[in-house]
Amino acid sequence: MAQDDDHQPDETADPVIDPWGSDTIEDYRELFEHFGIEPFEEVFDGIPSPHHLMRRGVIFGHRDYGRVLEAMQKDEPFAALSGFMPTGEPHVGHKMVFDELVWHQQHGGEVYGLVADLEAHSARGMSWEEIDEYAKAYVLSFLAAGFDPETGTLYRQSANREVQDLAFEIGIEANFSEMQSIYGFDGETDVSHLQSVITQAADILYPQLVHGPLPTIIPVGPDQDPHVRLTRDLAARTRYFGVTRAYASFEADSDELELLETAYSTREIYAEDAETPRCGEAAAWLDASETDDPKTKAGAIEKLRNAGKEPLEPRVRLLVRKAPPQAFEALIEAVEGKKRVYDAHIDCFDLELEEAEQLARTIELETGGYGFIPPSSFYHRFISGLTGGKMSSSVEASHISLLDDPEVGARKVEEATTGGRETAALQRELGGQADDCPVYELYAYVLAGEDDELAETVYRECVGGERLCGDCKTQAAELMREFLEEHQAKRAEWEDRLDELDIELMTDRKLGR
Ligand code: TRP
Ligand code: SF4
Repeated sequence: MAQDDDHQPDETADPVIDPWGSDTIEDYRELFEHFGIEPFEEVFDGIPSPHHLMRRGVIFGHRDYGRVLEAMQKDEPFAALSGFMPTGEPHVGHKMVFDELVWHQQHGGEVYGLVADLEAHSARGMSWEEIDEYAKAYVLSFLAAGFDPETGTLYRQSANREVQDLAFEIGIEANFSEMQSIYGFDGETDVSHLQSVITQAADILYPQLVHGPLPTIIPVGPDQDPHVRLTRDLAARTRYFGVTRAYASFEADSDELELLETAYSTREIYAEDAETPRCGEAAAWLDASETDDPKTKAGAIEKLRNAGKEPLEPRVRLLVRKAPPQAFEALIEAVEGKKRVYDAHIDCFDLELEEAEQLARTIELETGGYGFIPPSSFYHRFISGLTGGKMSSSVEASHISLLDDPEVGARKVEEATTGGRETAALQRELGGQADDCPVYELYAYVLAGEDDELAETVYRECVGGERLCGDCKTQAAELMREFLEEHQAKRAEWEDRLDELDIELMTDRKLGR
C-alpha cells in the first residue's frame, strides 16, 4: 500500500531544515542519515539517457525515484512538477530545475511548472507588482530552456482554484504542532505563511488531481525536502484503506510479520498436519529457534500462543482508514475468492499484495477518494555563489541572472573566486582545487551542457596543474557570454508569443506590502 514507510526518525530530535532560511547545506550526507534521503547512484543505472546533472553527480539524492523510472521504462504515465518563487530574477541555479523538468517532458512526462506567488507574497513579503514582473521573467526563462507549453502546464498558485481547494482538504490532515516541529513555526508565524505551506503540498499532488494517481517527481533543492516529507505523509493520511500481510486473525508489526513468515514457511518441521499448522505449534517452534531480536520474538510468541489452535494461514489484509462506510461496502463486494470480513478489515486469501493495493485504490477512486501515490523527489546540489558561499539573488556579484547582459555575465565569471593556488608555480605543482571552485561548478552544471568531454577535460587539467585560473576563467566567460546570448534570444522569441500561453501574467491583486 502506498503508505509512507520511510525510516523517519523522531522529528523533534532532528535538526530543522528551514526552506526560507539562508543556511547553506554543509553536509549532504547528514541529509541521508537524518531524513532518509537515498543516494542517487542507487537508481542511476535504471535511467534512460541520463541528464548531465545526473551523470555529473549534481543530483545526489532522492526519495522513491524508482517508482517514476519504472513508469518511464514501461511507457506508463508519470508527472514532474516544480515551483518557482518569484522573489527576484531567475539565475543559473534555477536553470538546473528548468532543465530537469524539460528532461522529464522529453522522456514522456506530464510536466508542471508553477509560480509560487502566494508563497512569495506571504513568506517573502513581495508586493504583487514585483511578483508579476518576476513571474514573467521565470516563465520566459523556463520556455527558453525548452519547456513545451502545448503538452505541459504552467500556473500561478493564486489563480489555481483547484490547488487551493485541495490545499484546504489536505490541510485537515495537518495540525499546528506538526508545522512547528517540521518548520520551526511559532506563535508569531502568520497564518498566510502556514497556508502557503499547505498550498505547496497541494501543488505537489496537483498532477494526481488532474490525471488521477500517477508517479510524480518533484525535482528541487534539498531545502525543499521538508515540504516533500510533509506531502508524502499527508497523501498517505488521505488514503481510504491500508494493505498489509497477515498470517492469522491477530495484528502484527512488520518485524513480527517477518518472524511469522519464517514460522509459516517452516511449518513442515513442526506441524502435526502441515496443511493446517496451528499458531500454538508455531509458538513452540519459534520459542526454541534463534533470533537476534528477542523483543520481537517474545511479542510474536505471545500473539501466537493467544491464538492457540487457530491455523496459521497467509492472507492479505485490507484495513479501513479514511474510508466512509459505503467505500468499505464496495470493497467487500469487490474482493474475489475466499475472504473473511470483520468490523474494519477484510482478510483476503486469494489476493496478492499488489492486486489488493490496486483494488483498494480503484475502489477509493470510485467512491470519492483521491488514491494518491506518494510523490517522489530528487535533490541537486546548490550551485556556489561566484564570490563563495551560496548563490543568492540578493548579492549581485554572487549570481549570474539569466537576464544579465552577456557582457556583465562574462565579467562576473572573470571576477569569480576560484579553487586556484596562490601562485601559478604552486598551481603547476599542486594542481587546482576543482572540487572547491565555483568556476568549475559553472562548467559542470551549466556551461558544458551535454559535452562531458569538456567537463572532464577542465577537471583533469585543473587538478593536474596544467590549467591556470586566468585562462580557465576566460574560456568560461566566453561560454557564459554565448549561453546568455542564446538564452536571451529564445526569451525574446517567447516574449512575442506570450498570448499563446494559458497563464495570466498580470494579477489584479494590488494590495502592496
Ligand atoms: N517553495 C518553493 C521555493 O521556495 C516553491 C514551490 C512552491 C515549489 N510549490 C512548489 C517547489 C511545489 C516544488 C514543488 O522555491
Ligand atoms: Fe577553478 Fe579553473 Fe582555476 Fe581549476 S583552473 S581552480 S577549475 S578556475
